[in-house]
Amino acid sequence: MKFNILSLPGDGIGVEVTREAIKVLNVVAGRYKHEIEIREALLGGIAIQKTGQPFPDETKALALEADAVLMGAVGLPGFEKEPLEKRPEGGLLGIRRAMGVYANLRPVFLFESLLDSSPLKNDLVRGTDMLIVRELLGGLYYGQPKGIEGEYPNERAVNTMVYTRMEIERIAKMAFELARRRRKKVTSVDKENVIDCSRLWRRVVMDVHKDYPDVELQHQLVDSCAMLLITKPKSFDVVLTENMFGDILSDEASVLAGSIGMLPSASIGAQKPNGVFTGLYEPVHGSAPDIAGQNKANPLAAIGSVGAMLEYSFGLKEESAAITRAMETVLKSGDVTADLGGTKTTVEVGDAVCAAL
Ligand code: IPM
Ligand code: MG
Repeated sequence: MKFNILSLPGDGIGVEVTREAIKVLNVVAGRYKHEIEIREALLGGIAIQKTGQPFPDETKALALEADAVLMGAVGLPGFEKEPLEKRPEGGLLGIRRAMGVYANLRPVFLFESLLDSSPLKNDLVRGTDMLIVRELLGGLYYGQPKGIEGEYPNERAVNTMVYTRMEIERIAKMAFELARRRRKKVTSVDKENVIDCSRLWRRVVMDVHKDYPDVELQHQLVDSCAMLLITKPKSFDVVLTENMFGDILSDEASVLAGSIGMLPSASIGAQKPNGVFTGLYEPVHGSAPDIAGQNKANPLAAIGSVGAMLEYSFGLKEESAAITRAMETVLKSGDVTADLGGTKTTVEVGDAVCAAL
């Protein structure tokens, strides 16, 4: 295959981990005889510093043109007083919306060799293998009206949580389809006892479920789900939820995988005329300003995101599996970064994955 990849290293450790992920991508492409062209553009804090915008028009054009986009992380201190549109995070929300990537897939998988990296008891987390399917373009993140009005001490802030039937339907379908390829169980997470968006959510998920009688559906309130994720992680297969609940639950679930430095993610949109699915791939972790530029960050979430890209955008399952095996080899060797109890650098871990490939 021949494909165009746009790389958006972004801020902080995003730059370091993306470099390793691209290195791995090049090795895989060479080994399996794919032709790749990689371009790079600005997103987030670095983009504000260089262009005044967190999501410059040039980045937008390149992202829409690319077959897939790999992102590092966004987030730089110093923009706290600005409105969201002018903060690094606004760039990420902008690109998600521009690309129309409504389904954020966050696999939470515990590699056997990382059993001791989780703070939870071994027998509780062993065998954890779930997929969080987070709706990415709706809810509180984008709802209007929003904003802070009035002056001190009388300010008033508003955010709007809004969902349409169409938005819930398409993400629910995605979750049921993915469950069919796994253990055929969907846990839909909502706050149906309080929030109207959640009442519609549950109603629509039940309607969509009628087309998937072979998949088991359970509903869980988000507060009790937060508890069950830690006390019974093995009972989850596909977790389907709205934007903000998914943001929170996926950070919580990362503890099950040993480190947030292990979690890749894939944000998927529509299928393009050439058959490729629109996709934005990024590690779940953020820019981690405290360890940025120190060659300490775990690159495996970014490397896993390349694996997800090969699988979800291009359907290259064998190539994706090869990356997972190489990661497993490196994890078994114990040559890992500090978050997993090791002493290796970002570059050393990247090199080790390439060597294992
Ligand atoms: C994530 C991040 C983002 C989000 C932030 C950086 C805007 O926390 O991808 O989970 O909330 O979606
Ligand atoms: Mg988050």
